[in-house]
Amino acid sequence: MHRRIITPGALAAASLMLAIPASAASYSPGAPGIGDPYYPDYGNGGYDVSHYDLRLQYQPATDELAGTATILAKTTQDLSSFDLDFLLDVSEVRVNGAKASFATSGQHELVVTPKTPLAKDTPITVVVRYSGVPSTKTAYGFNTWHRTPDGAVAADEPEAAWWWFPSNDHPLDKATYDVSVAVPDGTQVLSNGTLQSTSSKLGWTRYSWRENKPQATYLATLAVGKFDITTGTSEGGVPIVNAYSKDLGDNDGAARASVERTGELVDWLSGYFGPYPFSSAGGYVPNTTTGYALETQTRVYYSPKQFAKGANTSLVVHELAHQWYGDDVSLKGWKDIWLNEGFASYAQWLWSEHEGEGTTQQLADYVYASHPADDAFWKVKPGDPGPDNQFDAAVYDRGALAVQALRNEVGDDAFFAILKGWPKEHAYGNASIADFQAYAEQVSGKSLSALFDTWLYQPVKPAAPAARAASIAGAAAPVQPKSWKKIAATNDVH
Ligand code: ARG
Ligand code: ZN
Repeated sequence: MHRRIITPGALAAASLMLAIPASAASYSPGAPGIGDPYYPDYGNGGYDVSHYDLRLQYQPATDELAGTATILAKTTQDLSSFDLDFLLDVSEVRVNGAKASFATSGQHELVVTPKTPLAKDTPITVVVRYSGVPSTKTAYGFNTWHRTPDGAVAADEPEAAWWWFPSNDHPLDKATYDVSVAVPDGTQVLSNGTLQSTSSKLGWTRYSWRENKPQATYLATLAVGKFDITTGTSEGGVPIVNAYSKDLGDNDGAARASVERTGELVDWLSGYFGPYPFSSAGGYVPNTTTGYALETQTRVYYSPKQFAKGANTSLVVHELAHQWYGDDVSLKGWKDIWLNEGFASYAQWLWSEHEGEGTTQQLADYVYASHPADDAFWKVKPGDPGPDNQFDAAVYDRGALAVQALRNEVGDDAFFAILKGWPKEHAYGNASIADFQAYAEQVSGKSLSALFDTWLYQPVKPAAPAARAASIAGAAAPVQPKSWKKIAATNDVH
């Protein structure tokens, strides 16, 4: 990786000129990655972002995106330069008002060298002016910017931000967002949070969205297209904004019959997970050919295909469960993905039970029995699946089995206290599986090392506890959970 560094000589000259203290020698480039072993160059070192302000313009006819990102951050070391993760074409960067030099490096690094080095623990303002055609940009050979017949969508995991805004692209650095995008009159823009304003002039309509709670970069979403937007408030008081592409064809009814239940399902999930953590909720269904959904904060992304068999409330439950497990409490490293997918999948089992389609135990027994011991399914460790298996069925299904195993070990009282207490314990923050185990041990008063090791970290089928074995034998044709993830897997971009 070719990186710009200030040579010691240049630094000495700079310190003379600018009267920088002798300690300037300790100024060094921020790391090109935040330190996640799964994705070594994702995120960056040396600073922490508190807010992104994106003021953009997008032309659906040409896929041209242009505008300015203003980033508020604080340095966490003495910095001579720092990276942002970004793929579009940059024309100017300013740091604290002064023009900075910049260069591209590696797969998706924008290396910014401010005019004067930045001291540790100081607030900085970074302005990046840029433009580009996101659909033409790739990193590692892939592109997750999805064009639609009438616009485009940014929604993917873990990579989505590079194609539309410069960022410290890792869930560890959460920030608030203002996303303001102008599009040709008659076209709509969706993003996270609440719609602060719309205004039209010179043939362009500007939509300004605000997410006022910390949000991971991969949970920031942008959709441009012709949408039918519906609004409301859940019985429990959560404002709801949903949107449907005007071009969903046969899937339109099933999509609405699912996503219009967002308010009801948010309220229902609050019973298990505690108060809804954000100031709005909802989902949108653009006209994409993708096959997955994503828990984009407050405004879930759904693919039309997921409604091809009819309504799919189980999917909506899964994505809304992530608002607590994944969005409110985000992972510390991508290996902690079980904290997202295991719990969102378990929420689907709770919903199944509520709907009379099989209890959580029956579903656990069914999943356990349906994978023989030599099935590759058991080779994936949900607690450390590796980047290639991050969204493997085992992370979801064995992940949910692990949650049921925890419930059986600690009993219902402790289990439901843990389920509700966890989002409160780490509200708007980050946590690891080790943190979760410690919390579950604290609430239940039990040592859970063996249980976590068996269900999350051993690449073999765990032995069924005797009680479970009996219930498998006696189970009368348990209902199979909805297999939407298999649809997702066959449509994966990478
Ligand atoms: N977190 C998403 C979900 O379980 C999965 C996203 C998978 N990513 C992908 N590109 N298919 O709802
Ligand atoms: Zn999920």
